[in-house]
Amino acid sequence: MSELRKRIDEACQVISAQWATPPAIGLVLGTGLGGLAEQIENATTFAYEDIPHFPVSTAPSHAGQLVCGTLGGVPLVAMEGRFHFYEGYSLAEVTFPVRVMSSLGAETLVLTNAAGGMNPEFELADVVAISDHINLLGDNPLRGPNDDSLGPRFPDMCDPYDPALIQVASECASELGWELKSGVFVAVAGPNLETRAEYRMLRRLGADLVGMSTVPECLVARHMSMKVLGFSIVTDMGLPEELHPVDIDMVLEQAARGGQSLAELIPRIVARLG
Ligand code: HPA
Repeated sequence: MSELRKRIDEACQVISAQWATPPAIGLVLGTGLGGLAEQIENATTFAYEDIPHFPVSTAPSHAGQLVCGTLGGVPLVAMEGRFHFYEGYSLAEVTFPVRVMSSLGAETLVLTNAAGGMNPEFELADVVAISDHINLLGDNPLRGPNDDSLGPRFPDMCDPYDPALIQVASECASELGWELKSGVFVAVAGPNLETRAEYRMLRRLGADLVGMSTVPECLVARHMSMKVLGFSIVTDMGLPEELHPVDIDMVLEQAARGGQSLAELIPRIVARLG
């Protein structure tokens, strides 16, 4: 058994000892999205530091706990707060919780984040479905020895974000009376925001959204054959010709606004999947 597999099993054992239900869905709540965790019923909560081999979160507005329970009767496990590459963790550490969620039984992973919008059709606080991604982190969580029992050496990335799930999300948004936009997400290492020249470059590379997370989690989820659905909330506009300084409070404010829409959308999607 690989060292990684052993660590995953140790984390799963601690969780299953208190919450024996296999989750259908894993949910990663990004910046400002903690509100959704409050909707989880019959919750059993684990501080990250109480789960073996979990890193400890340092980012602001990230609570750092795993919330296990049900949403509309569907069992799920939610990360309230995630780990970022810019905090200094390796991508293997960043994505360890995804491996645990998969090993607990979650077959679908829903990822959320705050992102800069580079598509001029986006507006602040828009919720955007991620249709595809570009990895510009300069690293990969799958680098190193591969445990074939977890997934293949060369995972396919034809459809990293499940088209059928995006369709479900889009229908659920219509039911709520809004149109779900979609776009390509590019992951950068951060922690600085982009220069004008960088936003221009990223746009020309084909990206609509830029952020500092999500891609590592998606890669590991796909490695373990999970279906992935990803959402960005547009917290600032990365339009090179109209760029102005952004502070973290503005980002958090827009994330909270978009988070309210996502907190209505995600339970509908979960109900459809359950
Ligand atoms: N760039 C990178 N990451 C981000 C941004 C951005 O403009 N906004 C929120 N996360």
